[in-house]
Amino acid sequence: MRITLSCIKADVGAIGGHIKPSVRLTETVEQFVKEKAKKLLLSYRISTAGDDVAILMAHERGIDDREIHQLAWDAFLEGTRVAKEQGLYGAGQDLLKDSFSGNVKGLGPGSCEMEFEERPNEPFLLFAADKTNPGAFNLPLYLAFADPMYCAGFLLSPKMAKGFTFTIMDVNHTEGDRVIELNAPEELYDIACLLRDNERFVIESIRSRGTGEIGAVVSTSRLHNIAGTYTGKDDPVALVRTQGAFPATGEVLSPYRIGHYVAGTMRGSHNGPLMPVKQNGAISFFDGPPIVTGAALCVHGGKFTEAVDVFDHPFWDWVRNNVAQKAAEIRMQGFSGPAMLPFAELEYGGVVEKMGQLDRRFVVREEKGAERHARAGAATRTKRAIQA
Ligand code: F6R
Ligand code: MG
Ligand code: MG
Repeated sequence: MRITLSCIKADVGAIGGHIKPSVRLTETVEQFVKEKAKKLLLSYRISTAGDDVAILMAHERGIDDREIHQLAWDAFLEGTRVAKEQGLYGAGQDLLKDSFSGNVKGLGPGSCEMEFEERPNEPFLLFAADKTNPGAFNLPLYLAFADPMYCAGFLLSPKMAKGFTFTIMDVNHTEGDRVIELNAPEELYDIACLLRDNERFVIESIRSRGTGEIGAVVSTSRLHNIAGTYTGKDDPVALVRTQGAFPATGEVLSPYRIGHYVAGTMRGSHNGPLMPVKQNGAISFFDGPPIVTGAALCVHGGKFTEAVDVFDHPFWDWVRNNVAQKAAEIRMQGFSGPAMLPFAELEYGGVVEKMGQLDRRFVVREEKGAERHARAGAATRTKRAIQA
């Protein structure tokens, strides 16, 4: 059976700041999806990560289907209605456009979708992150799908011997989708060269080179680029098929033990370590740390099993303690250097305006005649030396 998995998520309002949606909001979204599911879906599941609501759907309509995207958009409008009624903070925050135009891409919500022929048993993972951006998945997916230090399958499984093709998007290019396909393992250094820059180059999808099958997809939208100004971080979602020709579930999870530093946390303007947390939880320290939740499911005939919360295990308590320490360490240096994002990535208008005002107050000191002559002479000599 050929099915499509679609995950569409948005922040449409939260209790007590950008913390967590209300139960009524989440239930309203769920009720709406349940009603529409009768006609359109084989299965669905609603979950939350920080202040975001994620709608996971299985259906037979393919990716970029208008009705599926409309369903999610309308569900988030319903959620926004409740958020306004309850006076939740940031009601409708991620619905950046007034009307739906066929696809949620470019309208605010994040989405990732994959279409495939269902295996007799089809395990997969849904990751939902909050207070960070899509590049947060670059490192964990690279390590799981390209690095034998994290994925033992490259040594032990003939099914994975041919490696994977990475499709990477330049998310700074706003006029259209600018993408490149690179093959692991031959082009590992090129892949690393791009994935180093989490703000600009983002893994969009990964395919098996052995079977040609889709293995992973990530939402790639950047709210900053859509709105042209700060509107919250992009809080990405990712779907990853596991086992068989793909890395095992535990191999896909293993890189989350690092708690690597990603952009996001307070006001979307800082670096903080990505903390793997249980599902449906809240945001706390310094509007962070950036979090990632993980749900493992099987889908059969388009029907989901119940989800297993993959980060709800004693091992991850130990990881969380370490990651908390990393968060505290970087926070100790406040605004200084790598604790905050570079200027080009700062999303709050305030700092941009402030820099503009300060720029006008800078002066270039008048130099005395002799000094100016000496400097001009030195510059000319350097130029001649270079030309020679
Ligand atoms: C980051 C985030 C929060 C807010 C912060 C200020 O993605 O959502 O850190 O940026 O709480 O929020 P406002 O500007 O809405 O008061
Ligand atoms: Mg928010
Ligand atoms: Mg969010």
